[in-house]
Amino acid sequence: TASTGPSESGSGFVVVANRLPVDLERLPDGTTRWKRSPGGLVTALEPVLRNNKGAWVGWAGVPDADVDPIIEDGLELHPVPLSAQEVADYYEGFSNGTLWPLYHDVIVRPVYDRKWWAAYVTVNRRFAEATAKVAAEGATVWVQDYQLQLVPKMLRMLRPDLTIGFFLHIPFPPVELFMQMPWRTEIVEGLLGADLIGFHLPGGAQNFLYLARRLAGQPTSRGTVGVRSKLGVVQVGFRTVRVGAFPISISSAELDEHSRRRSIRERAAKIRAELGNPKNILLGVDRLDYTKGIDIRLNALEELLLEKRIDPAETVMVQLATPSRERVESYIQMRGDIERQVGRINGEFARVGYPVVHYLHRPIPRDELVAFFVAADVMLVTPLRDGMNLVAKEYVACHSGLNGALVLSEFTGAAAELRQSYLCNPHDLDSVKDAIVSAVEDDRDTKRRRMRSLRRQVLAHDVDRWARAFLEALAQGQVAGSALLTD
Ligand code: ADP
Ligand code: G6P
Repeated sequence: TASTGPSESGSGFVVVANRLPVDLERLPDGTTRWKRSPGGLVTALEPVLRNNKGAWVGWAGVPDADVDPIIEDGLELHPVPLSAQEVADYYEGFSNGTLWPLYHDVIVRPVYDRKWWAAYVTVNRRFAEATAKVAAEGATVWVQDYQLQLVPKMLRMLRPDLTIGFFLHIPFPPVELFMQMPWRTEIVEGLLGADLIGFHLPGGAQNFLYLARRLAGQPTSRGTVGVRSKLGVVQVGFRTVRVGAFPISISSAELDEHSRRRSIRERAAKIRAELGNPKNILLGVDRLDYTKGIDIRLNALEELLLEKRIDPAETVMVQLATPSRERVESYIQMRGDIERQVGRINGEFARVGYPVVHYLHRPIPRDELVAFFVAADVMLVTPLRDGMNLVAKEYVACHSGLNGALVLSEFTGAAAELRQSYLCNPHDLDSVKDAIVSAVEDDRDTKRRRMRSLRRQVLAHDVDRWARAFLEALAQGQVAGSALLTD
């Protein structure tokens, strides 16, 4: 039932994100095909949009692609084109060379480049204009993530009839760091074009409220923001903008079911056999990104092997790393460092035919990934900073047998919810090492108890609940627009 061309009347519900849920892939023979886009944003939003129907406005993932809209089963995909220069300046430059490191606690130094900023403004305007064409009269538009922070204001100027939500999928930084940004006021004002601004954690929402007062000069509420409750309020002229915390999640029940399938269990057993039937399989699953602390878990493993706290004859680590942002300098450098580290550990500790670290630099098909989650005895999630980290939740959803253990960095959004994981401070290597050793050595009952509690959390708070909480708050704001500044 696929057809092309935008619908006549427009869509009542529109998601706007830098990426479409699928990437156009150009094959060597000149033909093209679509593949799933990388990252947690797409993992989370795709099922939401499938349930709600509507339109998705985004980039097809390759430069200079002039692609017609795709309409399939009630879901419309509207590609926004980017030139090669815009990919370099707006996507690789301002989004991933400036905003990404700034919002992740300047793990890497952000670059402030006026040409990149100009491209960010131009491309945000293009997204706003494309959305204005797609949205029906009075529609709800949900703008996603750091690449599009100017879109709420630009879209409101084009289409004051729309209800506009914005959700930030990455951390919102501490005020002192945000103040580095040369275009800090423009960004805060861009976001204030929305009716509701969502963050993962109350802390991000509170940082934003402070900046709305200080940089945009608007009165705000001062009480603490709750999780899915007690929204903050910014008064922007006659408009009320609400600010809240909505921790994102996964399709927990669906993944739980998927992981129980016989084919997956059989594949998991086969993976264990292929790895030489080790006693302990440690697993890392990430985009290859410097925020993820892949180097930290490798350092921890290396020291544990040196100190003989982990025996290379009974332990293997598997690191699955999806290529990401491969032309950005800091990513190129980090890839080299990690690959050298993997080589060094295997050089010191492997036997012929039995590497200690298995490293795959490619996206893994979904079934295979689920089998790896099932097979893993210990999941290593060690970011220096992460807005949420869906991988941690995916691992938990795959362990209905209550086996397995999750090592989780305190610097992830997920750590606020997954309190029964083996929490560690990634800046403190001893803390990471101790968490890994406990996760390996704790008795079966302790691990079962922890996993049971983690599963309760993840199964009760799935991505539908996240989307519902956000969209209900957005809709309520339209009704209760004047219950302002109450605290
Ligand atoms: P981010 O959004 O920063 O990439 P998340 O952990 O929130 O981090 O989400 C990552 C998503 O990408 C998850 O759904 C995860 O399963 C998927 N993913 C990560 N690494 C791989 C990989 N090597 N192969 C396939 N999927 C992956
Ligand atoms: C994170 C970001 C997303 C982004 C994804 C993949 O999840 O929050 O906005 O889409 O990483 O990164 P990429 O640069 O490949 O889109």
